[in-house]
Amino acid sequence: MESIRRLVLLALTGVFLITNLANAQDDQQGFISLDCGMPHNEPSYIEETTGLKFSSDSGFIRSGKSGRTNNEDPRLGMSNIKPYKYLRYFPEGILRNCYNLTVMQGTHYLIRAVFVYRNYDDLKQRPIFDLYLGPNFWITINLQEEFGSVDRFWRTDGKVEDIIHMPKSNFMDICLVKTGTTTPFISTLELRPLRDDTYTTKTGSLMLFNRWYFSNSESFVRYPDDVHDRLWDTYFSDELTQINTTTTVNTTNAFDLPQAIVSKASIPKDAGKSWSRRWSMQSTDDVHVYLHFAEIQALKPNDTREFSILWNEKTINHNYSPLEFMVDTVPIRTSTKCDDSCYLELVSTTSSSLPPSLNAMEVFGVLQLPQSETDENDVTAFKNIQAFYKLQKMSWQGDPCVPTQYMWTGLNCSNMLPSIPPRIISLDFSYYGLNGTISSDIQYLSQLQKLDLSNNNLTGRVPEFLAKLKLLTVINLSGNNLSGSIPETLRNMENNGLTLILRGGNKNLCLDPSCESEAGDGKNKKKWLVPILASAASVGITTAIILLIILFYRRKKRSSKDIRPSMVVNKRSFTYEEVTVMTNNFEKTLGEGGFGVVYYGNLINNEQVAVKVLSQSSAQGYKQFKAEVDLLLRVHHINLVSLVGYCDEGQHLVLIYEYMSNGNLKQHLSGECASSPLSWANRLRIAAETAQGLEYLHIGCKPPMIHRDIKSMNILLDEHFQAKLGDFGLSRSFPVGSETHVSTNVAGSPGYLDPEYYRTNWLTEKSDVFSFGVVLLEIITSQPVIDQTREKAHIGEWVGFKLTNGDIKSIVDPSLTGDYDSSSLWKALELAMSCVSPSSSGRPNMSQVANELQECLLSENSRKGGSQDVESKSSLALSTSFGPEQTPDAR
Ligand SMILES: *[C@@H]1O[C@H](CO)[C@@H](O)[C@H](O)[C@H]1NC(C)=O
Ligand SMILES: *[C@@H]1O[C@H](CO)[C@@H](O)[C@H](O)[C@H]1NC(C)=O
Ligand SMILES: *[C@@H]1O[C@H](CO)[C@@H](O)[C@H](O)[C@H]1NC(C)=O
Ligand SMILES: *[C@@H]1O[C@H](CO)[C@@H](O)[C@H](O)[C@H]1NC(C)=O
Ligand SMILES: *[C@@H]1O[C@H](CO)[C@@H](O)[C@H](O)[C@H]1NC(C)=O
Ligand SMILES: *[C@@H]1O[C@H](CO)[C@@H](O)[C@H](O)[C@H]1NC(C)=O
Ligand SMILES: *[C@@H]1O[C@H](CO)[C@@H](O)[C@H](O)[C@H]1NC(C)=O
Ligand SMILES: *[C@@H]1O[C@H](CO)[C@@H](O)[C@H](O)[C@H]1NC(C)=O
Ligand SMILES: *[C@@H]1O[C@H](CO)[C@@H](O)[C@H](O)[C@H]1NC(C)=O
Repeated sequence: MESIRRLVLLALTGVFLITNLANAQDDQQGFISLDCGMPHNEPSYIEETTGLKFSSDSGFIRSGKSGRTNNEDPRLGMSNIKPYKYLRYFPEGILRNCYNLTVMQGTHYLIRAVFVYRNYDDLKQRPIFDLYLGPNFWITINLQEEFGSVDRFWRTDGKVEDIIHMPKSNFMDICLVKTGTTTPFISTLELRPLRDDTYTTKTGSLMLFNRWYFSNSESFVRYPDDVHDRLWDTYFSDELTQINTTTTVNTTNAFDLPQAIVSKASIPKDAGKSWSRRWSMQSTDDVHVYLHFAEIQALKPNDTREFSILWNEKTINHNYSPLEFMVDTVPIRTSTKCDDSCYLELVSTTSSSLPPSLNAMEVFGVLQLPQSETDENDVTAFKNIQAFYKLQKMSWQGDPCVPTQYMWTGLNCSNMLPSIPPRIISLDFSYYGLNGTISSDIQYLSQLQKLDLSNNNLTGRVPEFLAKLKLLTVINLSGNNLSGSIPETLRNMENNGLTLILRGGNKNLCLDPSCESEAGDGKNKKKWLVPILASAASVGITTAIILLIILFYRRKKRSSKDIRPSMVVNKRSFTYEEVTVMTNNFEKTLGEGGFGVVYYGNLINNEQVAVKVLSQSSAQGYKQFKAEVDLLLRVHHINLVSLVGYCDEGQHLVLIYEYMSNGNLKQHLSGECASSPLSWANRLRIAAETAQGLEYLHIGCKPPMIHRDIKSMNILLDEHFQAKLGDFGLSRSFPVGSETHVSTNVAGSPGYLDPEYYRTNWLTEKSDVFSFGVVLLEIITSQPVIDQTREKAHIGEWVGFKLTNGDIKSIVDPSLTGDYDSSSLWKALELAMSCVSPSSSGRPNMSQVANELQECLLSENSRKGGSQDVESKSSLALSTSFGPEQTPDAR
């Protein structure tokens, strides 16, 4: 098979000299390179011949053991390439073992899996097993079929599989499935993001048959020569002659071909003949071919190279001429199958003086992936239930419902048609040793027909939310220790065909319908009011805007379980040891505040993070930590800084956030950054993005969240200067027992705090709108929020003062140098002033704010033909470098 030759050549890269290795590591953006089986405590390393950075796979799979090939191959040196020494094998008897990888939804990936057996287990038993992409069959890995002699065993003892695939969600499972008696294993797993405009298909994914470049050299080409790390194999035959050039070929077409490949081409040895190649490949579906051409001979004035391209004897192109010193790719995606063999032929036209030439060619078989993944909300709910009860089953890997033969235990699904995502229709956790209450996430399994939680140690009440599941026909709760009464709504469902089984155990459960009782006890909400120290309050045009260095805190207990599961949950709990590793023993501080220190860190997949270690005193009494964090982990919005994980181990409470490399808005407005000031378009965009994040907290979240601490310092900017709101949701669960915390800005910051909230202690979303208005004023004016040396100390008063005096021009930040669409600016100013209106009824809601800002942004962008925003964004990115104060702001 061709994949064997690929592997042999892969091994040969050991002797292939690579030119620009030094810069290589910087460009591996989005690459995932897993050295499977490498112990988790071994650090990632740079593979010498390619410069690729490999790391352990241990964070991506739960089953399997680490193995190692011992025998070296003196001729090929294959074993000397580090990534193929370790392997992960799966002797435990679990049928399906899956890697779960975090990917970019909708991006095309080249996915490569390598299997080097080399008798690692001393059994001399090369395995056969299946590979799956999510719920869909990919290919059978059969390491037995091609090997005969010992010699071949040594030379070609492995396989490389390569597919171009676009994941439909942010997670992707790649599974090894045991199909016989032999043990599946894997050596490396490599993912490379590709451009979306290159290898496209109407349906299915592209399974590589081969990727040839036509040269008589034996050099294998991959990263760093190929920026996408495609593996290019050479092909040559007696009928061909090589031509080559030292002139640089323009490779700026979408395929980013390496110079090493396009600087060589093949022509027929007999110039009168056509260029042809025939091969057989097993493919029941379509074959796609990509032909890469470049004219690499300096043509004389009377020379022409012109030929027809024939694919399986049908003419695709009648008179094709390669472009001079410029790559051109001809894709063949017509729905043609190869019957017995595939046949490509390039035939000179009569007017051509030169023979046809071809530089490189890729051949793919289309693999259909018909099976949909299980409904995402069901998967999320199930995983939350699993986490709630701390259930861990090794076999719970990959898609819960499909393929049906690997369906997870404890559930059953509807699997009507492959094109329809399966739904979880029954949950059977009988005798699962569950304790605690009945998980509220069960209510989000909206298609549930049967719920069996019998014979566990469940306590608490029979929850009312079960009545939301209208399709339920059986609820079996017998053999538990539930108490209280049965909700009436559930009783009513019994009349509509629900079988509710409660008898057996449950001694404290009142089954008598008459004992509708103390429902709602224990839910009384504690309200804490902790005023600390009052300071200057000044009166301006709007008498109600009051300077606050007074902080309020009202603790409002809410059920953390009322939240709807969002699209994707990436729930991650880390040990303190892992936190130590990810921060490299708390090496680099990003910021410091009342609740602890924020450190820079790196996750195992190289994702950068900001690690907030809560100080001992803040940690004390933070009983709700886990519940609150679970809630925050479920909040996902592009304009909210996501919580990636947490650590809750004894005294150690740690929050792990996504890293925001461009600091916070305040730094940019205050000129703290040595960069050029933000343009008006960028300011508007940041405001609009922030407004959308806040709108989501107010409206998109269930239950809605009030941020309570909107300020420019909490608006963070990622590497693309996209704005994200940080530190939401925490203030309400932090205890404010001691005054030390409050004096360091626990909730609400001076100048941003809503005066009405201060007066009435009645907190609504409109308090956030007020704070957002203050931020908008900062964006427009670049003035400090409070400045005692100004005519009016508070920014809202000051702007009002200027407006009433008709001194409009002096409001606007002079560093904008008049470079703005004034209508968008005045509209934003008007909006800001309405947000800081003293009475909450006079303020717009966040949806209105977000819409207005979007309109401002459109009008500003149309001023310079629409491209303004993008341009200023990239020029900004180039000219900016920032100080150490980064995400999320330490308070
Ligand atoms: C992926 O695997 C990790 C490590 O085993 C696990 O913690 C995480 O929950 C998994 N994520 C998903 C979405 O299954
Ligand atoms: C280029 O072609 C010439 C003549 O065919 C050959 O001698 C030479 O080795 C080739 N160079 C490379 C780098 O392949
Ligand atoms: C390559 O070709 C593109 C498209 O014609 C052109 O824009 C670009 O400047 C060329 N690059 C070089 C290095 O000549
Ligand atoms: C093309 O021009 C070269 C000289 O530049 C000449 O030797 C050759 O015969 C010409 N070929 C044809 C086909 O006209
Ligand atoms: C799952 O449901 C199907 C159809 O409703 C049924 O035939 C099958 O036996 C069930 N499987 C299990 C494991 O309960
Ligand atoms: C459930 O039991 C485990 C150990 O058996 C215990 O650690 C845990 O706290 C219990 N959970 C609840 C909610 O009672
Ligand atoms: C309930 O918990 C007790 C003690 O923790 C244990 O002995 C018993 O087996 C449990 N019962 C069930 C049904 O899991
Ligand atoms: C409910 O659970 C009990 C205990 O596991 C079992 O005996 C009974 O058959 C179950 N009833 C139904 C209808 O599933
Ligand atoms: C049931 O729960 C109560 C507390 O609600 C506890 O006192 C009792 O020991 C539990 N019974 C069993 C059998 O676990």
